[in-house]
Amino acid sequence: MKKLMAANWKMYKTWAEAESTARELVGLAADKLPADREVLVFPPFTALKAVGDAFAPVDGFSAGGQDFYTEEEGAFTGEISPKMLADAGASYGLTGHSERRHVLGESDELVGRKTAYGLEKGLKVILCVGEKIEERKGGKVEEVLERQIRAGLRDVPVGVEPDRISVAYEPVWAIGTGEVAGPAEIQQAHGFTRKILVSIYGEKANEMRILYGGSVKPGNCAEIIALDNVDGVLVGGASLLSESFSQIVLA
Ligand code: G3H
Repeated sequence: MKKLMAANWKMYKTWAEAESTARELVGLAADKLPADREVLVFPPFTALKAVGDAFAPVDGFSAGGQDFYTEEEGAFTGEISPKMLADAGASYGLTGHSERRHVLGESDELVGRKTAYGLEKGLKVILCVGEKIEERKGGKVEEVLERQIRAGLRDVPVGVEPDRISVAYEPVWAIGTGEVAGPAEIQQAHGFTRKILVSIYGEKANEMRILYGGSVKPGNCAEIIALDNVDGVLVGGASLLSESFSQIVLA
């Protein structure tokens, strides 16, 4: 199973900025990329084609859409479909990101519909889950993870190819705060996530990737990526500069 080194650029970068960062990243990391790693960038929609074009000729580099809706087309102002993402060069889609859940108000139910729909329409999907600080303090980490994972995967067929679905554990309190979860916290959450995946999909869940996200930086990535059940990272702030993200990719 290849480790997936993913960047989420959120609502940062113009078309030109995204294109130059993507090309710099290829220059810094493509030749040195170990065979057991993949690089994935989620730019804003307006820059997806630019990043997709920069990555198209490079082995191991892909682009993805940060969100998508559950219809192919129609009167859904402001929304975008998996078909449109694929047309712009995306092979991956993200669902359930903390900011979609807690800033934009997406429910577990909607996240579940998006996850199943994206897979059905040919995207590989990364389902994001994670507890808020008050849930951690209240001893509810496993309860929250189990609820979000089961709801997120509710309509995903048991026959899904394991390399097409990943789960990203992103504790909300560690996102953009500089406060990274400790190795024991990451291992416990990832081990628990694996257990839930195995209970749904059986042995093939061992081939599904579980990523960690939350204040990953060049200085902590090597330690995180070496932990059991950590099959990649999803990086926000430290992925915006090509120098810093290339160090993470190669860590
Ligand atoms: O999707 C990425 C996460 O929200 C992590 O963001 O690396 O800025 O903490 P961060």
